[in-house]
Amino acid sequence: MSFTVLQDDAWKAPPEAKELKNPKPGDKKSIKAGAKVYKQFCVACHGSSGKGDGPGSKALNPKPADHTSERVQAQTDGELFWKITNGKGMMTAWGPMIKEDQRWDLVNYVRTLAGSK
Ligand code: HEC
Repeated sequence: MSFTVLQDDAWKAPPEAKELKNPKPGDKKSIKAGAKVYKQFCVACHGSSGKGDGPGSKALNPKPADHTSERVQAQTDGELFWKITNGKGMMTAWGPMIKEDQRWDLVNYVRTLAGSK
C-alpha cells in the first residue's frame, strides 16, 4: 500500500506538547551543549547545518526535516522537544537515549539554525 502525505498533513505534535515549557534559557552554555549533542547524534541525517542533507539522509523517505526551515522554526519549543523525544519512523525516539535537559539544549541549538545557509 502506498499513500501520499500532503505537506499540511506533515508530522504534528499533539496539542499538549505545544504548551510544554522550555526550562532552559537559550544562552551560550545551553546552545554549546546542544551543538555537541547535535553533532554526535543528529548531523548524520540532518546535516552539519541542519538542512536535512546529512550523509544518512540519502536513502530516507521521508527526508530528515530541514531545521533551518520556516515550517520547523514556526513550531513551539515544546513541539520540537516532543518530536525529539518521541520520534517517528526513521526519526529516532531520543527520549530513552538523551537526557531531558540535553533534549532542551538541542531545541535551543536548533533555534540557532534558523535561516542558516
Ligand atoms: C536516522 C536519521 C535521523 C537521525 C539520526 C535524526 N533524525 Fe530527526 N528526523 C529524521 C527524519 C527522517 C525526520 C522526518 C520524519 C517525518 O516527518 O516523518 C526527522 C524529523 C525531525 C524533527 C521534526 C521536524 C518536523 O517538524 O518535521 C526534529 C525536530 C528532528 N528530526 C530532530 C532531530 C534531532 C535533534 C536529532 C538528534 C538528536 C535527530 N533529529 C536525529 C531522521 C533523523
